[in-house]
Order: sequence, then C-alpha cells, then structure tokens
Amino acid sequence: METRGITAEDFGQIVSVIDRWWGGPTSALAHPMFFHELGEHALVVEADDAMVGFLLGFATGAGTGYVHLVGIDPGYRRRGVGKRLYESFTERMHGLGMRRMKAITTPGNQGSIEFHKALGYRVERVADYAGPGRDRYVFTRDL
Ligand SMILES: CC(C)(COP(=O)(O)OP(=O)(O)OC[C@H]1O[C@@H](n2cnc3c(N)ncnc32)[C@H](O)[C@@H]1OP(=O)(O)O)[C@@H](O)C(=O)NCCC(=O)NCCS
Repeated sequence: METRGITAEDFGQIVSVIDRWWGGPTSALAHPMFFHELGEHALVVEADDAMVGFLLGFATGAGTGYVHLVGIDPGYRRRGVGKRLYESFTERMHGLGMRRMKAITTPGNQGSIEFHKALGYRVERVADYAGPGRDRYVFTRDL
C-alpha cells in the first residue's frame, strides 16, 4: 500500500465511487472546493494499482486539522487503510503547527464513531451542530 497526495484523476474517481462506497447518495460531500481550494493535504491510499481509500481535509487558521471526509473501498475495510490515512494527515497537520484534530459524523454512523474512538478521539454528540434538529457527533483530539 502507498499513501500519497491527491491528483485531479483521483478526485474524479472519488466522485464516481463515493455513492457506492457509502451505500447511498453522498457525492455532494465531495464538493470540488475540497480538491481545488482546500486539497493541498488531501491524501489517497493505493493498493494493487487502484485507489482504495481517500481523505479530504485541511488546516484551519484556528490551529485545527479538520478531516472533512474519509472513505475506504468496502473490499478494503478493517485492514488499517483508514488508520493509515489519519496517521499521515495528522503528521502533516502537526508539522504545520496545528494543535488539535477534528472531524464530525451523523448520528447512526456507528462505524465512524467506533473508528474515531479506536484512534483516540474524544466523542461528543452536539445538539443542533448542523442547524436546528441536526445533531452531529464531534470527534476531537489534541496534538
Ligand atoms: C469508517 C471507515 C473510514 C474506517 O476505515 P477502515 O480502513 O475500515 O478502518 P481501519 O481498518 O483503519 O480501522 C482501525 C480501527 O478502527 C475500528 N473500526 C474501524 N471500522 C469499524 C467498524 N465498522 N466498526 C467497529 N470498529 C471499527 C477498529 O478498532 C479498527 O481496528 P481493528 O480492525 O484492528 O479492530 C470506513 O469504514 C468507511 O469508509 N466507512 C464509510 C464512510 C464513512 O463512514 N466515513 C466516515 C465519516 S465521514
């Protein structure tokens, strides 16, 4: 497996596989700004000459390394690909002087909650985080 920076070709592939990888319509989350404007530190993992995972994230002016979206090919889950992406991205964020890491997910995404717990993140359900009636689980970790 190889972890590397994202290319335009990778982004195109993310858009084409994302609904299948998530098991439902999700492509709006892969907004092009996360590649064109905020993609400097976005990463992919390649195995057997194919992209098997990706992470779209960025550094904020407030010292936070923010993971917007992470996705792993269903055929490659529970093989450490997500962990590998988080470790590389976190290392980059630490190198940029970020002081904490953050990500969010929707209630019901138990896989994501367990994954973040396993990586040492604090987990908190925040009421109305995404607007009235739209709670989110917020994951944070100090660096
Ligand atoms: C959540 C996700 C990114 C995890 O990626 P992954 O490559 O399978 O995770 P890893 O293999 O690195 O897992 C590391 C640890 O996290 C925990 N973990 C990961 N997925 C889990 C799951 N579905 N249920 C319970 N624990 C899980 C385990 O402790 C695991 O270690 P182990 O396999 O040795 O027990 C992946 O399942 C995915 O793409 N899901 C769909 C998209 C999504 O929900 N993204 C996150 C929200 S934006």
